[in-house]
Amino acid sequence: MAFTTFAALNFASMKRTKIKVLLHESEVGSSVVVKGWVRTKRASKNVTFINVNDGSTIHNIQGVVEAGIVSEDVLKKITTGASVALTGKLIESQGSGQRVELQVETATVLGEADPDEYPLQPKRHSLEFLREIAHLRPRTNTFSAIMRVRHALSFAVHKFFNDKGFVYMNTPIITASDAEGAGEMFHVTNFDLKNLPKTEEGEIDYSQDFFERETNLTVSGQLEGELGATALSEIYTFGPTFRAENSNTSRHLAEFWMIEPEMAFADLQDNMDVAEEFLKYVTQYALDNCKDDLEFLQKRLADEEKNKPQNERSDMSLIEKLEFVVNNEFKRVSYTEAIDILKNSKPNKKKKFNYLIEEWGADLQSEHERFLVEKHFGCPVILYDYPAKIKAFYMRLNEDGKTVRAMDILFPGIGEIVGGSQREERYDVLLEKMKQFDIPEEEMYWYLDTRKFGTVEHSGFGAGFERLVLFVTGMTNIRDVIPFPRTPGNAAF
Ligand code: 4AD
Ligand code: MG
Repeated sequence: MAFTTFAALNFASMKRTKIKVLLHESEVGSSVVVKGWVRTKRASKNVTFINVNDGSTIHNIQGVVEAGIVSEDVLKKITTGASVALTGKLIESQGSGQRVELQVETATVLGEADPDEYPLQPKRHSLEFLREIAHLRPRTNTFSAIMRVRHALSFAVHKFFNDKGFVYMNTPIITASDAEGAGEMFHVTNFDLKNLPKTEEGEIDYSQDFFERETNLTVSGQLEGELGATALSEIYTFGPTFRAENSNTSRHLAEFWMIEPEMAFADLQDNMDVAEEFLKYVTQYALDNCKDDLEFLQKRLADEEKNKPQNERSDMSLIEKLEFVVNNEFKRVSYTEAIDILKNSKPNKKKKFNYLIEEWGADLQSEHERFLVEKHFGCPVILYDYPAKIKAFYMRLNEDGKTVRAMDILFPGIGEIVGGSQREERYDVLLEKMKQFDIPEEEMYWYLDTRKFGTVEHSGFGAGFERLVLFVTGMTNIRDVIPFPRTPGNAAF
């Protein structure tokens, strides 16, 4: 290492500092090491500017390389996407838009990125294009901002429940039950699919499978969560759930994360109170802790909306929308009231809805939910007391015998973000309901046992984590708020 100077040796033993710290905390004049990926390089006659990002913040640090400091050979390899280590002194910025910049003393290319092949250019790419290179998406401003907000929200989820004394419970990913009864499950098996063992009747013989029964990926941790709540009082789950529903919408994933609290000694009112407090808390947490990223995403959204016709543009900025949710009470409306509103609404009368609302008992589609939230009430809405027929078997039957203590929370731009209910805690009523819904009671004895031994009023809900991230980031397609979206036909990486 004949060319290594004393200064470089000194730097070699120094630790790198994250760019977020350099930009906000490190002292002007200090010697530092920066490591990250090159976003842009701009050269003039006497100086080269290198913008580097390491994912710790939306902002880049600008490295200033005076002529002759770094060899031409190294400078040539410093291209967009390459990973680099820069050493030098922090100086007050001359105009990079930041407090400080780096007066570069040494530069090392750690990993080259062939400019002819690297798919990301220093320009705006479409979200659709970026979905095709999801393995490189986090290198962009938009996705790194979303990933940091997603992280902050998930931390806030745990903090909210931990501070309230809930126990984080890990419910199984592989189950033998269909909690929602919708039959939209991915099978789990280690059978040789080309040679399936059959019973004498010619059916697949699951008794020879790994678990000696038919199993699938869970659609919800709720049923197991109820076992926890009826012992620990208050639990929550936060894990991946899987649904093989073939709905190619901007709101559905085949693999999504769900937060499911379950509370003993709690009725539907308590459930709504906790859900509303929860959504406000995590939104406020993002406002408090993700300012730079939210400001960036707010600008992105505003740019996107410029391409929309005037009447489809939002009159609030992203941060105003988040503040609105935090500062206003959610409107609580019964299903029956909602049906009346929808029946008499303009789009229903003018036959503008794809599904017209004709009578009580109709299932609500997202067009109806969004009408209520965005046009009629103009704020988040909690709908409750739905017809028993259109909701899951475990919801508590009301005295009227035809509605259940269900609640859905509907958000502007999103539709349903939370679904929950008070649970049927009466053994006989639950058993009867399971018969009506064709749920095999022998296989669900473990669930029924909670109603047999020390049963108790209890409630819970499920919040779709990606729908929450969608709302907070102002993104419009759910595929853009999870690192590796799983949708029909997509599981490449
Ligand atoms: O309304 P859902 O189906 O309710 C349940 O699964 C209950 N077991 C929850 C409970 O009471 N513990 O789903 C809950 C939420 C929805 O409101 C929605 O936000 C989200 O999960 N969700 C999805 N998110 C993304 N992709 C999908 N395919 C989703 N399906 C539901
Ligand atoms: Mg639902």
